[in-house]
This record gives sequence, C-alpha cells and structure tokens, in this order.
Amino acid sequence: MKVTKIGVLTSGGDSPGMNAAIRAVVRTGIYYGLEVFGIMRGYQGMIDNEIFPMDTRSVANIIQRGGTILKTARCKEFFEYEGRKKAYDNLCKHGINGLVIIGGDGSFKGAVEFNKEFGMPCVGIAGTIDKDINGTDFTIGFDTAVNTAVEAIDKIRDTMEAHDRIFIIEVMGRDAGYIALHSGIATGAEYVLIPERKTNMNEVIDSLLEKERRKKLVNLIVVAEGDDFGGANKVQEMIKQKMPNAETRVCILGHIQRGGSPTCIDRLIASRMGYHAVECLINGKYNVMVGILNNRMNYIPLQEAVKNKGKVSDEWLKIIKILAS
Ligand code: F6P
Repeated sequence: MKVTKIGVLTSGGDSPGMNAAIRAVVRTGIYYGLEVFGIMRGYQGMIDNEIFPMDTRSVANIIQRGGTILKTARCKEFFEYEGRKKAYDNLCKHGINGLVIIGGDGSFKGAVEFNKEFGMPCVGIAGTIDKDINGTDFTIGFDTAVNTAVEAIDKIRDTMEAHDRIFIIEVMGRDAGYIALHSGIATGAEYVLIPERKTNMNEVIDSLLEKERRKKLVNLIVVAEGDDFGGANKVQEMIKQKMPNAETRVCILGHIQRGGSPTCIDRLIASRMGYHAVECLINGKYNVMVGILNNRMNYIPLQEAVKNKGKVSDEWLKIIKILAS
C-alpha cells in the first residue's frame, strides 16, 4: 500500500523541540506530495476526531517554541480496543494511511498495538525529556531539559556556597536517571541518586559526616524523582535524622524542565528525525522508530525502542564519585 495521506501527533509528556519535529514532518510530507493532517492531543484527538489538514504555513514560526502546537495528552481510552477502533475509524474517514507519532515509550507501545490490530503504518520519533528510549543517542527535549536543570542548579550553588548548606535537588525522571546523571555531572554534584541503581543511604550519610568532620559543608545531591527513596524530601528526612545540625534544603525543579525554547541540538535532531520519519513512510519502512546513533540515522522496531529500562553505565557513577572527592 502506498502512503498518500499522513497524520502527525504528539503524545505523552511534551518536550521542547516537538514543534520543530512537527514542522519537519509537515514540510517534508508536502514536499513529497503527501497530504498531511495534524491530530490534536495525541491519541485522544484520534478518538475524538480532532483531525485537520495542515499546510506549510501552519507550521511557520514554531521551530523555536517549546510545548507543542498539536497539544498532547496521556490517553487512557487508547489502552482499550474500543478506543483504538474509534481512532482507526476516524483516520479512515480522512483517508489517512500513515502516522508519525512523536512521543515516548507509552506512545510507542500504543502504536505497536494499533498497527497489530489495524495494520496502520506507524513511524515513531522519540520526543521525551527522559531519554529512556533504545536505539538513539538523543531524544527530543532531553538536551533542553538538562540545560534548564544545569542553569537552575548553578544558581542554587551560589546560595548553597554562601550558606554552607547541603542542597538536595530533585530533577525529573520517574523511571529514568539520565537527567539526574547529566545535570549532576555537569554541575559537579557530590551525589546523584537514580531509579536504575539502589542507593545505600547509610553510605551517603557516612560520607557526608566524614566531610562534615573535615569542614566540607557544601554538598550537592541531585535526585531523580523516581529514585528508590521517593524523591528529594525523603532524602532530606533521612539525612536530618542522622545529621540534625546540618543545614539542608530541598529544591524540586519540576515541570520547568519540560518548558522553554529548545536548544540548537533539540531543533536539529527534531528536524532530522521529522524528515526521515516521512521518508520511512514513503519507502515502506513501517513500525520503526527513527533515532540517531553516532550521528547516523538509525531505525529500530518500535517494540525494541521501548526496552530501555536500567541501561545506565556504571562508569558514569564512578566518574561522579571520583570527581566529587
Ligand atoms: O515523561 C516525562 C516526564 O516529564 C517524567 O520525567 C515525569 O515523571 C512525568 O513526565 C511527569 O508527567 P506529568 O506532566 O503527566 O505529571
């Protein structure tokens, strides 16, 4: 079957650079003579038939904007067959016979099911600040999120140093510690706690006590929200119990990491991935995710893309330990 009309949607948590990817999909599709439709609010818009034709002007002046002009949602109805059937019927009404899904692992799992049941050709583009996707060195939004975190942590470091405090900073990442690892190393954190590794809190506290004895009172702890203790507040409680005199403060960076203008890297990868996603649909390369590995395009089956849990390298943790001494 030749793909002639494609739909593009953003799904799951938004990430800076999604707009650049939408722009690339729309303009590449039109360049190759396809009709391109925007689908609002991810899979929800497919179910609710919020589907509209797009042209090159509908994506003007968005490459630099955070968020997503197509809006996004985490759609529970799409987990059920009935929801997916409604979505499929709506796509058929518009004659759409190919989809580009910009999202994270949940969105790709939905696409795999959808293709199995209805044979709809799907191509995925990794859009998530968490970077927890296989087969790509980059996911759209990660670089921006990490830079936002680094900028914020650098500011916190100023006041932390001024007061000789221990700061516990929580960054995003429910199941993945990449934002914590990258921002932690880049800001010279003494400790980085991530969901992929069990943290020995006694060891952390013993080392803080040892530093206290040698008057190193300033310590930066970066915690991913999904670490095994349940985030920065819990970590602070545990430290306070054993170090009642230590000055500790918590800062939860939260959704600030999801917003803002995308960095150059995120705009570039979004543009490349968007362009290649359309080429995949045209060339019959279906149900793959478009990634970039070692600066080359890489295509892996959508079901492989989501198998990324726990892939953090021990070397990174070793580097943190050595550099923080
Ligand atoms: O998936 C990206 C992410 O930002 C995670 O890091 C975070 O746990 C989650 O989304 C938050 O989701 P929501 O905005 O739906 O609360």
